[in-house]
Formats: sequence, C-alpha cells, structure tokens
Amino acid sequence: MSRLVVISNRVAVPKARGAAGAQGGLAGALNSALKKHGGIWFGWSGQESEDRTGNINLQRNDGVTIATIDLSHRDVDEYYNGYANSTLWPLFHYRLDLTEYERETGKGYERVNERFAECVQPLIEPDDLVWVHDYHLLPLGDRLRARGLKNRIGFFLHIPWPPTRLFVSLPFHERLVKTMLAYDVIGFQTQEWLESFLHYCTKELGAKVDEASGKVICDGREVLAKAYPIGIDWDHFQAQRDTGEARQAAQRLLSSTRYRTAMIGVDRLDYSKGLPERIDGIGRFFDQNPERVRDLVYIQIAPPSREDVQSYQHIRNVLEQKTGQINGARSEVDLVPIRYVNRGYSHAELYGFFRASKIGLVTPLRDGMNLVAKEYVAAQEPEDPGVLILSRFAGAAAQLPDAVLVNPHSPDDLSHAIRIALDMPLEERKRRYEAMIATVRDDNVQNWTERFTRDLAGTKQARG
Ligand code: F6P
Repeated sequence: MSRLVVISNRVAVPKARGAAGAQGGLAGALNSALKKHGGIWFGWSGQESEDRTGNINLQRNDGVTIATIDLSHRDVDEYYNGYANSTLWPLFHYRLDLTEYERETGKGYERVNERFAECVQPLIEPDDLVWVHDYHLLPLGDRLRARGLKNRIGFFLHIPWPPTRLFVSLPFHERLVKTMLAYDVIGFQTQEWLESFLHYCTKELGAKVDEASGKVICDGREVLAKAYPIGIDWDHFQAQRDTGEARQAAQRLLSSTRYRTAMIGVDRLDYSKGLPERIDGIGRFFDQNPERVRDLVYIQIAPPSREDVQSYQHIRNVLEQKTGQINGARSEVDLVPIRYVNRGYSHAELYGFFRASKIGLVTPLRDGMNLVAKEYVAAQEPEDPGVLILSRFAGAAAQLPDAVLVNPHSPDDLSHAIRIALDMPLEERKRRYEAMIATVRDDNVQNWTERFTRDLAGTKQARG
C-alpha cells in the first residue's frame, strides 16, 4: 500500500477536543484515514508569527507524522481570513451578499499555496499518494506540478461547488479552475456539487466529459471527477458509548431537562449553518403551540469560529439577540426554553448529549455534507431512537432521505417538523432510524478513504 501524504489547511492537533470544536469535521475524518495508511499530514500549525520562520515542525502521533508550518500575520489575514473565508467560503455556500472580491487577498492566497508547495515537496517520496483537501488549497496541485512532482495527486472538496451562474462572479475563475486540472482525481461530497462542477467545465472551459469513465478532458488533460460522500468514523464514535464521559454527559443532560424533550443542535458558529433561521423556527413553534413550551428544551452548542472575519462576528450578535428575545418572552422561574452554549465538547460528551436528546436539529442553509447529522443518528438507542430533522440543503440529505427533511429558510416548515418529531410514534421513529443507520454505519470514513485512494492509485502515474 502506498504511503499517504495528506495536505490540508488544518491538521488534527493531538489531544484537541471536540468534533464541533475549532477543528471541525475534516480533521477527525482524516486522522483515521492516515492511521490506516501511515504517512504524513501537512498543514498550518494554527500559529501566527511576525514573519515566516521557514521551519517545519514535525511530530509523531499514532504512526502518523504531523508536519506543520506557522504563517505570518499577513498570510493569515489574506489567505485564511481573506480569500478562503471571505471570498471562497461565502461564494461556495451561495452567499454572494457576503462575498468579498479583493485582489490583494487573492494574491495572498496564491502566495500561501506556493509556500505550502515549497515546504511539503521535500517530504514527498516517489510512490506516495498525495491527497489535498478543501477550498483553501485549490491551486496546490498545480503548484506542486510546477515543481516537477510526478506523483498521483488527488483533491477532495469538503464544501459545496456553487452553480456556474454564481461561480462566474469570481474574478479569474477560469484561471483558478484550470489549476485544478493538475489533479488526477477531484472528489465532491454529492452528485449535485459534482454536476455543478462539470457544468462549469463544459460551459466555461469548453471541456468534454466522458460519461462512461467520469473523466473531464480539457487542454490535453484528463481528470477523474466523482462524488465520494464522506462518512463518520463509525468504530471510534461507537466506542464512545461505553465511556464514563458519555454516560455522565447523557445523565447531566437528562437530569437537567427532567420531564421535557431535549432537542439538540451542534454547529460551528457559521452563517452557513442556518442558526438564526433555526431560532426563528423554534420561536414560530412556540408561537403556534404555546401549550407545548413546557414540553421542549432546545440546546444549541455553537463553538465560535473564524472570529476575525466580520460576517462571523455579525452572526454571533444576531444569534445572541434572537435567543435572548425568545428566552425573555418564554422563560419561567423554572424553565428556560433555549440553552445557548458557545463552546466545543469531546466526542464522548457529544455522544452522550445526542443519545439523551430525542430530537436532533441539523438545518444548514447550505452544507457540503454535515457529519453532525450522521453522528446524531449513530448515537441513538435502537429500541427508542430520536428523530433527526435535517435541512434538504445539506449534502447529508441525499444520503438520509428518512430524516424529517425541511426547508431551513421557512420558520413554518421548521415549526411543523418539530411538532411532527415531538409526536412521532415509536414505530415510525424505529423505521426511519433503521433506514438511516445502515447508511451511516456502512458509508463510514474508512470506506470513503478506500474509495478515493483506490481511484487515485488506479490513475496513470506521472504527468509531464
Ligand atoms: O468543512 C469545512 C472546513 O473549512 C474544514 O476544512 C475545517 O476543518 C472546518 O470547516 C472548520 O473550519 P476552520 O478550519 O476554519 O476552523
């Protein structure tokens, strides 16, 4: 088996807490992939320095070498806060209203991609499979090829690919996508994002798509483009069930909610997650069903994210205001309908919270996959499972059609779904759970890695 070299903006720092903590779902998923293959994980240390030090920090963890570099304040500002998270992230989540188009941050993005290439190249051996991740590093494959790298290089996009009409609002969009043709395999979370990409390539670049092989043929290059829906680390997540930490977390939640149904949401504090819209939906439910205020307590776990970006500061303020309004209007001396928590928890604690919550609310306005939806299902008790309310705009909806699917923009739709979930008979809950759990268990992160790396290893080696 070839060694794997994974390159992503963030790497999993040993002993870091929480799937929904600062690292998000990608880090956890890649950690287990690397443990199996052995190899290197290269990325940003998360540290900023006055100037670039040029040092690569190496650390061994569970058979995996973690190699990181620090970035300068300017790099972080232009590449991470700027082009990645103020241009590409909002654009790829269909939020043109929040997308900033700044030439300087675009240059910073290219500069940091070049720097990643320069630092990682000496660590790569001739037979390694190189696997680049996410929107921070779209041009990295091209930068590595320019340095003469002949290895097989794959790319996986963890977030949606926007429709062509939105994507063409990006200055130099052609140049950016052409750099992606340096990869051998490009993976997407869903068929929908894949189709958007293929549409762009055919309409804007004049590429041909070979239906039989899934290859995009453009400017003399052939790239396999395909959907590889990501899954959770099933074994690791299930192993949390018997931990004291998970049991205590479940107990804590149950004893504090007493006779009420606990409904839970766990999301990074990000506008793509539809949090204010969700609170509006809960407010609508209370307005339409005032007699049920005592039946329900909503727990929103929302660790802060990308706090230096203005749109993230804004979403935090909006959410605090909306939560405060509903709690002010609906609380009693012994009842607070919404608990809003700004911190991350460990996997074990999340397992316990999910298991103790009879409704899981996952309602992003747009999301590449959303592994929290799968984790919620995985944590349910088979004989008395809870109900997953899931946005139809999350990638996970294509795989979990037996969730209660909602339009997250509609407070009425959300309110209706909450009512259905609260009253759903055990038989129906079990039927839906059984349909979903098979997918969550079988389409796990190990299978995802296998599918992607098998395709990558099967491509022809060595481009000129
Ligand atoms: O899933 C998209 C993603 O950007 C991942 O790459 C990342 O791990 C997660 O969201 C959290 O974001 P950040 O690394 O900006 O904290």
